[in-house]
Amino acid sequence: MLTGLWYYALPGAQLARGAMTNRTILGEPVLFGRDADGQAFALLDICPHRGMPLTEGRFDGREVECCYHGWRFDRSGGCTAIPWLVDGEEIKVDRIKVRRFPVREHLGNIWIYMDPARRDVDEATLPELPPVPEIGIARPNLVVEMVFNCHVDQAVIGLMDPAHGPFVHTSWWWRPNRAMQVKEKAFAPASYGFRMKRHRPASNSRAYYLFIGGQPETEIVFRLPGIRTEHIRAGRHQLAQMTAVTPIDENTTRISHVIYWTLPWLTALKPFLGRIAHRFIDQDREVVEKQQRGLKYKAPMMLVKDADTLARWYFRLKQEFAQSQAEGRAFENPVEETVLRWRS
Ligand code: FES
Ligand SMILES: [Fe+2]
Repeated sequence: MLTGLWYYALPGAQLARGAMTNRTILGEPVLFGRDADGQAFALLDICPHRGMPLTEGRFDGREVECCYHGWRFDRSGGCTAIPWLVDGEEIKVDRIKVRRFPVREHLGNIWIYMDPARRDVDEATLPELPPVPEIGIARPNLVVEMVFNCHVDQAVIGLMDPAHGPFVHTSWWWRPNRAMQVKEKAFAPASYGFRMKRHRPASNSRAYYLFIGGQPETEIVFRLPGIRTEHIRAGRHQLAQMTAVTPIDENTTRISHVIYWTLPWLTALKPFLGRIAHRFIDQDREVVEKQQRGLKYKAPMMLVKDADTLARWYFRLKQEFAQSQAEGRAFENPVEETVLRWRS
């Protein structure tokens, strides 16, 4: 699991003003809160006094109060009060701190920065957020989240795999039979990842033509740690979607899929579209979870020809990112401009 990157934390709409919630990210329990001014923040969800999860306590929109002995913390993680102290008991309360994680909110998504040294970091030194295509819609029209019982790598390469469609996504709205076509797509390096250049989706990718219509053109970008974005243009309308893969721990991974659109008819179809998006991701979940049964036996991992090149790139990108971090040098993208061909 890579650190030193922004991870998708949760949809902003799931965090009301004055509320807090917890999510485990890369094995760390995290409290996410939104203060009375609407600002999101994140703290380690462990009280520094005796380890109580802080989300078991209360949050008044300013401070979090631990449920055990009532110690209070502000949104930067600083302790503000130890209620049991009596006059004359000298203790520098403000020296007690809960670890704070940098968070940013953009286009209705909350992101968290996971630092390799597991400490408070200087916000000014952090990299840019993964770019989500902006189509003039401030928050996702649709959010689907799901947990896969597998390591993040299996989730990422399972979702990006170009060859499983005819065998896994066999619903009528996607690929009703196993009709396969030769696909030829041009790729180029992109920031911390790669890009499939703008193209017309294949005629057997039925959902594009079913829901979007017109002459859709799509561009897909993948970047570390596991963020796939797609920008579709069809006439004057646009659709943008992002699949973000975030490890909960070594064996569990959360998939967050958000969609933005300017197509008015999709808003009318939203409940239906929600079910279809859910079913699509669930097909990926089912297949990678079945795969886990074989992988338990130290099964082989073959990466064969063009169809497995994206997986190969993912592992190379990861390796280069970790190495460049360890050596304190700039990241050098290992991906080269190329055309890949496969049947799906
Ligand atoms: S455990 Fe949190 S105040 Fe004691
Ligand atoms: Fe899939």
